[in-house]
Amino acid sequence: MMMIHYGACYYPEHWTGEQAKSHIPLMQKAGFNVVRMGEFAWSKFEPEPGRYRFEWLDPVIKALHEAGIATVLGTPTCVPPPWVIYKYPHILQVDREGRTRHPGSRCHACKNAPEFRFLSEQITQTLARHYAEVEGVIGWQTDNEFGCHNTTRCYCGQCEKAFRDWLVKKYGDVSAVNEAWGTAFWSSEYRQWHEISVPRKMPTGCNPGHWLDFARFSSDTAVQFHKTQYGLLKSICPKHFVTHNFMGRFPEVDYYALSEYVDFAAWDNYPDAAGDAMETAYAHEITRSFKGRYWVMEEKSGPTGDADSGLLGEQPEPGEIRRWAWQSVANGADGICYFRWRACLTGAEQYWHGILDHDGVPRRRYAEVRKTGEELRAVATALDGTVIKAPVAVLRSFDILWSLERQPGAPGFSYDQHCFDLYRAVRRSGHNCDIVQAAADFSRYKVVLAPSLTLVDEDLATRLDAFVQGGGTLVLTPQSGTRTPTNAMTDKTLPGLLAELVGIAVEEVRPYFHGQTHQIQFRQGSLDGQTCAVSVWIELLRCTTAQPLAEYVDGAAQSRPAITCNSRGKGSVYYLGVFLARDVLERFIAGLLPEFAVKDIPDGVEVSQRRGPQGRLVFLINHTRERKSLTLPGQYPELLSGETVGPKIAISANGVLVLKA
Ligand code: GLA
Repeated sequence: MMMIHYGACYYPEHWTGEQAKSHIPLMQKAGFNVVRMGEFAWSKFEPEPGRYRFEWLDPVIKALHEAGIATVLGTPTCVPPPWVIYKYPHILQVDREGRTRHPGSRCHACKNAPEFRFLSEQITQTLARHYAEVEGVIGWQTDNEFGCHNTTRCYCGQCEKAFRDWLVKKYGDVSAVNEAWGTAFWSSEYRQWHEISVPRKMPTGCNPGHWLDFARFSSDTAVQFHKTQYGLLKSICPKHFVTHNFMGRFPEVDYYALSEYVDFAAWDNYPDAAGDAMETAYAHEITRSFKGRYWVMEEKSGPTGDADSGLLGEQPEPGEIRRWAWQSVANGADGICYFRWRACLTGAEQYWHGILDHDGVPRRRYAEVRKTGEELRAVATALDGTVIKAPVAVLRSFDILWSLERQPGAPGFSYDQHCFDLYRAVRRSGHNCDIVQAAADFSRYKVVLAPSLTLVDEDLATRLDAFVQGGGTLVLTPQSGTRTPTNAMTDKTLPGLLAELVGIAVEEVRPYFHGQTHQIQFRQGSLDGQTCAVSVWIELLRCTTAQPLAEYVDGAAQSRPAITCNSRGKGSVYYLGVFLARDVLERFIAGLLPEFAVKDIPDGVEVSQRRGPQGRLVFLINHTRERKSLTLPGQYPELLSGETVGPKIAISANGVLVLKA
């Protein structure tokens, strides 16, 4: 039977035996079957160089095991203890401005420092050997949130050397670097490898090729660091899984590359109660898309309490913890660990609450966690073997995230936010949506949305063409095909290598800095006759083989196509030379997607589906603080209440329905 792993992040090192007496019985009562521990405990595991201690943790693992609670261990490499820094002060990271990232909090060590790598491997290996056969231990999380606190990119001398080595491997010859980056610009031609530096703070913007390769190298640094731990853990503990806790939409580490070395992905979910719940759904589906399976390794269970700002976050309203947990499961999560079990008395995160407050007294948040656990167990059989199968994908590329991070082009433009806007439009129609990389197999989808697909090579252009010719629907948006994989601008008429596929030429692009707007009008399709305002950035298109779908109706752009559709083979390509307002985008995208059974989903209600051999589970979650009504296509058993509901249903504030379809 399917078992949702359900538990919390637990820090026995924070508690005396007396304080911790009630912990395990309370966890048991809450229905926990897993905890994560140890990821910050290097100084406990190795208080002095080479002297290892396990007696502080082993009895806890044993007691948990006896209570039916398994253990996931973190490798503690995110915080090397003071003795490491004292011995090897040069392993500290350096920021872009040349300032040392000092010890005393966490994430301060440079992953390219040989001594730090050696010590990290040693502690990982030692822990793996000690715990390989310990009953109760089921898996590992490497390190913690690679890149957290802005530490993906380190600008120290060790990184400079490693960057050069990385470039040697990639280009072989320094002249190839000159060519790729176009160093003839501003007299930057390199004669020797050692003339190349990391892109520290400069008087003005650095070479985009240099920047992109540094962003790739920095991401690779984290991937290689993780891969080493993954290799050690898998070889010493073959029975255990290995994962890492990602940070949702975090843009600096290529999680697709990292996911090659995890058994399943995981992420840390701290939703903003008043924010757009689709933002949380986006992060869930990003994480799910890496491996199909994932856990929420840290699920918010109390007020946050940022170590940096020193502010205590908002208290979750009753029902919100349950709703967030169900949203995780609805989007495909197979495991949930709340962060954290109990608020700490000391340390930088004193304000960061968990299920229990500082006094360890179970109150309403504990009761809600317990109730949610009961509900999850009640639907375990129905969840068995179910996974999410999305007919639609958004292509979100890390290379493009990095390229557009430096050069967004349009004022205020965020590539990730644009990806999210398209994603949101898909979810509003009821469909789940995969978030894929450029190397993905597009043939799995009916519709692929590839927002601002700037970096394009022949291979990608050919695969997208094959997808369309085979019957797929492709949607492209401004700035498509503008660049090569080295971050150079293409010398072809835009959209560059995609021009034939899209059937247009982009004649002119116009970023707007003073709030200028244009009106466009749809001339065909589901929005025929509708007008809407566009701003920020527009492109004036000329159709070669495509048909205009919408045109500008005012200004110098008047009568020029703004949105086009090109039929190609059995499929179609849509090109948006504009950014559509959210409501228009939603209706436009809905017109391209397969029919969805639930219509007119109210804003704030999320629909998600898990499919399995025994059928489909449809989750309906009301993320608002008001009651919402909608109409289902029929009547369905609702698994949490045991009642039959539909066709007209109401979902209470924070309500969750699980329908068997
Ligand atoms: C992150 C970290 C945790 C903790 C929480 C709360 O997600 O992984 O260690 O710091 O944030 O701050």
